[in-house]
Amino acid sequence: MLKIGIIGFGRMGRMFVKEILKNPLWQLAYICDCNQNSRQAAALIAPEAVITDNEDDIFADTSVNAVGLFALADSRFSQINKALKSGKHIMAEKPVASDTRTEWAIADAVERSDLIVTVNLFNRNAWYHKDIIDFIRSGEIGELAIVRIAHQTPGHMPQEGHDPEGPAFHDCGMHYVDVARWYANSEYASYHAQGVRMWSYDIPWWIQAHGTFQNGVVFDITQGFVYGHLAQVQTHNCYVDVIGTKGIARMTHDFKNATVELHGVTQTIIKTDAFKDKKADVMVDLFGRSILEGKNLGLPTVRDSVIASDMAWKMLHDAEKNGLPCIGKPEEMEEILARRRTMTNGYGLPAKNNVNK
Ligand SMILES: NC(=O)c1ccc[n+]([C@@H]2O[C@H](COP(=O)([O-])OP(=O)(O)OC[C@H]3O[C@@H](n4cnc5c(N)ncnc54)[C@H](O)[C@@H]3O)[C@@H](O)[C@H]2O)c1
Repeated sequence: MLKIGIIGFGRMGRMFVKEILKNPLWQLAYICDCNQNSRQAAALIAPEAVITDNEDDIFADTSVNAVGLFALADSRFSQINKALKSGKHIMAEKPVASDTRTEWAIADAVERSDLIVTVNLFNRNAWYHKDIIDFIRSGEIGELAIVRIAHQTPGHMPQEGHDPEGPAFHDCGMHYVDVARWYANSEYASYHAQGVRMWSYDIPWWIQAHGTFQNGVVFDITQGFVYGHLAQVQTHNCYVDVIGTKGIARMTHDFKNATVELHGVTQTIIKTDAFKDKKADVMVDLFGRSILEGKNLGLPTVRDSVIASDMAWKMLHDAEKNGLPCIGKPEEMEEILARRRTMTNGYGLPAKNNVNK
């Protein structure tokens, strides 16, 4: 068994801890969180782990093979450095730091080490994206021309945390900036972005970016956590829509199941299977097997994360330059925040210190 210590027992930390406890490759040795309520919740869920508020307990323990870094972006740089110095493999949340220059320094340091280091770009562990990409690369849709992605939910609001990760288009949108680049199999060449200051909030919470990759593939990405927060019944609009010179491939999901529709020249495949949220089970297992085999068996890389983060910031700043219409009232935002404080089932709700949630 491999020993792991995790730092940050919030929404993501809890998701990963559940999968670590289920996976026979892993022994959960430590949970560190600076918040007393989170530590109490951790003690209930993992009674055999050491619960601490001092991350150095983990780095100093030479029997610990790996760390899971699930606190916020502002503490990741120092934690990654400590892990590299103490020879511990790393499974980190994104982004790996709260500014691009630091992120690039981390990518360089990680690539100089021989440790297994991965970032939770969860889409890269999703069966539905892998199916579509295999279909594209097989030539079934002809030459890839257009990649269209949308991720719009009544999700994480301003004032609900994640300040170091930036506005919605960076915090969440960097995932879709990564997915578009992965599909295009090329680097970004040009972009133009438009945002909206919803509820007259200072920062745009919905952005659409479009542009080109170096190989000529055209993209559009729409990300916003503004999708009907006050609707009687909440819904979302998330999809991938890929157009080739001969065929198309697309995916939608309802957060429970994902459906892939592949319309190629010789094959038509419609498939529905479990969506599986952040795919933490896949990540935890692949991370363990990669450490045991001494090589990355297909984990998302720090470089992919840093490129996505860097480009998401650039698109966000472009939106700021292109005029940001101000729509709605601050009172509407207050109403949304109040509703979310009492919701127990909703999109991207902050973690509550109740282990059953
Ligand atoms: N990959 C994804 O799809 C995805 C989704 C959501 C969040 N995230 C990322 O995961 C990270 C955590 O997000 P979350 O939603 O779980 O946040 P959260 O606020 O629910 O949890 C963060 C936890 O870390 C603790 N913490 C903060 N700083 C700490 C420190 N220095 N030492 C110890 N504990 C510390 C907090 O007390 C809190 O319990 C963020 O970086 C976020 O960007 C990724």
